[in-house]
Formats: sequence, C-alpha cells, structure tokens
Amino acid sequence: MSGRLKPGVRATPTPFRFLRALLGRDRPVYIHWAVTTKCNLRCRMCEIWKREAKDELGLDQIEELAAILAEVGCVQVSLGGGEPALREDLPEIVEILMARGLKTRVLTNGVAMTPSLTDRLLARGLGEVSFSLDSLNRERQERIDGVPGTFDKRLKNLVYLAEKLPRRNSLPILNTVVTPDNVGELSGIADMAADIGFYVSFIPIHLPPADESGHRFFGQAPDWRFGKHSEKDLRDVFAHLVEKKRRGAPIVNSTSFLERSVDYLVNGRASWRCRAGELFHSISPQGKVAPCHAFEGVWEIDFRDLPGLIGSPSFLKDVRQRVENCEGCFRPCWAEISFMMLEARALREMVKVQAKARFGGRKVDAAALWRRVDLVVSE
Ligand SMILES: C[S@@+](CC[C@H](N)C(=O)[O-])C[C@H]1O[C@@H](n2cnc3c(N)ncnc32)[C@H](O)[C@@H]1O
Ligand code: SF4
Ligand code: SF4
Repeated sequence: MSGRLKPGVRATPTPFRFLRALLGRDRPVYIHWAVTTKCNLRCRMCEIWKREAKDELGLDQIEELAAILAEVGCVQVSLGGGEPALREDLPEIVEILMARGLKTRVLTNGVAMTPSLTDRLLARGLGEVSFSLDSLNRERQERIDGVPGTFDKRLKNLVYLAEKLPRRNSLPILNTVVTPDNVGELSGIADMAADIGFYVSFIPIHLPPADESGHRFFGQAPDWRFGKHSEKDLRDVFAHLVEKKRRGAPIVNSTSFLERSVDYLVNGRASWRCRAGELFHSISPQGKVAPCHAFEGVWEIDFRDLPGLIGSPSFLKDVRQRVENCEGCFRPCWAEISFMMLEARALREMVKVQAKARFGGRKVDAAALWRRVDLVVSE
C-alpha cells in the first residue's frame, strides 16, 4: 500500500485550501479522526479506555477517506483515539493523508511513541504532534494516567521527539488538561514547552454536565469540577497565561479561548459560536462522520456520503438545527476553529504561530527540561 497519488494527480497546496475555506466558510476545515479506541492508559478524566474495541478502517478504505477529505476541501486532520500510536500502520496512515495535501497531526499520550515509531513517522514527513502531559510531577502524572511507571518512558519519548523533529516546518504541542489537580502547574508547563521548542495547548477539563443540559462525551471524574469558590483564583491563573502569551510564551490557545476558559471551568458554559458539522467534523474508527463527539452513535453519516452532503442546503439546515445553541463543550480543537474563522484577532494569532512554526527555528534544551522535572519530582 502506498500513500502516493496516481501520476498526474496533484494535491492542492495547504495555503490555497485554507484561503478557500476562509473565504467560503462552507467546508470542513478541520477533521478529528479517532483511528482506534484502543488505549494503553486509564486516564482518570477520560472513559475512552473503557470502550469496547471495534473494527477500524483498513488502508484501502483510508485511501478512499483521504481522497474524499481532500475533495471536500479539508485542511487539517488530527489523528486521535484511543491511542493512535497503538496502530501498527500509523506511519502509512500519515503518509496517505499527507500525500493528499492534508495537514496531518498525531495526538498521543506519548507512552508508545517510541524512538523507532517517531523515526518512522518523521520519515513520512510528519511535523505536527500533540503530546499529552498534564504534570511535571511523576506521582501526579501517574495518578492521572492510572498506570504506574509511565512517566519516565513518556518524558524520554518526548525528548527524543523534540530533538528529532525538524527545527523548521514543524509544530509540536503539549496538550495539558486543566483540572483542580494541576492548575498550579500551568505556567511551569508553558516554561517547559519553551525549553524543548514546543507550544502548549490548555484544555479545560470536560466533565459530564451537572444538570444534564449539556453534552456528555468521553469526560468523567466529576470530583474534578471547579466550584464557584475557585473562580477568583482561576481568573488570576488565566489572566497570567494571557499576559504570558502576550509576552511571547509558546501558548497556542487564542487569547479569546483563554479568556473564556474560566467561565467554562466554573459554569460548564462558555460563549462561542459552535460551527460543528460545518467547519469541523469528527470521524469514528469505523469511518462514521458526526458533527462532533457528542453526536457519535446518535447522528452520523458514512464518510463516502460526505461529498454529496457538504454544501447541500438541506444538510446544512439539518446540521444547524441540531447544533444550534449548543454550548455543551469547550474543546480547543473545535472552539479554536470557530474563533479563527470568525474573529480577526484569533486568525492573526494563529497565522503568527504557523509562520513561526514554518520559519522560526525551534530551539531544544533537553537538559533544562530534566532540571525542571527533577526539581518538581523532588519537591
Ligand atoms: C482523548 S485523547 C486521545 C489521544 C491520546 N490518547 C492522548 O491522550 O493524547 C485527546 C486529548 O483529550 C484529553 N482529554 C482526555 N479526557 C479529557 C477530558 N475529560 N476533558 C478534556 N480533555 C480530555 C487528553 O488528555 C488528550 O490530550
Ligand atoms: S486521554 Fe488518551 S491516553 Fe488517556 S485514556 Fe483517554 S484516550 Fe487513553
Ligand atoms: S458545543 Fe459544538 S462541538 Fe461542543 S458538544 Fe456542542 S455541538 Fe459539539
């Protein structure tokens, strides 16, 4: 199986695709595709690892999917799960998507992201990885993971990735879920990201809705709900992060996202215009397309039906009716697409990040990372 296009077929370059999407605001700019439900961790705030493993798309079907995503004007695909590094054929999947000109990102908890897998992925041209890390404290991180003995392995894999990724044309990000357990560490994690030439993305924890009005998807751990009493402290923390970003810290979240995160964490609601099913979609391991995780198993289509539905007025009306007024989550990948496509400041901030990733020249100081971690671990 090869990811290469047939002779004579050329992928449209990303900037043109993005410009087309920005002007039209009528196509799925971003796709989150869970390539597997299998997972090697038991994270406290996530219930995906409890799900039954089902069939996954094979490489022939993935060729078809990639062609369709390119045809409908998609710009970016994130490969999540479950844990995508558990798929043996992950490098081939990346190659197939990238051959179609789709910007491709792998989301990983890092434990199975071994040096040999990293080498195989980088050899296929992967430059975008989101690496989850919620704490620099070994005990806390392993408590979150629900699996002992993962911390050192994960950090070694992180350092290997940081050192091997090209200094230009790469955009590595640490994904940090914000919970009452790690809220005191956020600034330190941003500093650590800077040590190794990464950005950090802060993800407000998603929990089952307190009053059943919002959407329940993979979030669990209701005891990690921030109460009203935390509001003032949280406002201080996020004001600090906004200021830190303004001064050049590598925080990839838009200012608008950071400003609204406290409302979401405290009240379970943040004001944003969700464009699920229009500007972004979620795809299951079996190739079912839903507007977002909240519609998985509830309202889905086969990926082969996408070209006929994208741009159809009746499909659009249906999607809008279902998604209208839903403020059921504040996932950065989705909310940021809406901000970027609908708000000049967020677009400017994202263009700056992309330009820096392309031309900036990352610096990696692994010794600084280990010093920082040692300090926290021995506290
Ligand atoms: C579901 S995981 C899939 C990819 C991979 N297994 C990983 O952990 O990076 C994608 C991201 O969602 C985050 N996540 C898990 N549970 C969450 C929750 N309840 N609220 C917000 N984000 C969560 C993870 O930490 C990770 O950064
Ligand atoms: S957050 Fe990622 S690593 Fe953790 S259980 Fe969920 S899918 Fe697995
Ligand atoms: S706010 Fe949008 S992305 Fe989030 S659950 Fe609702 S429809 Fe889905």
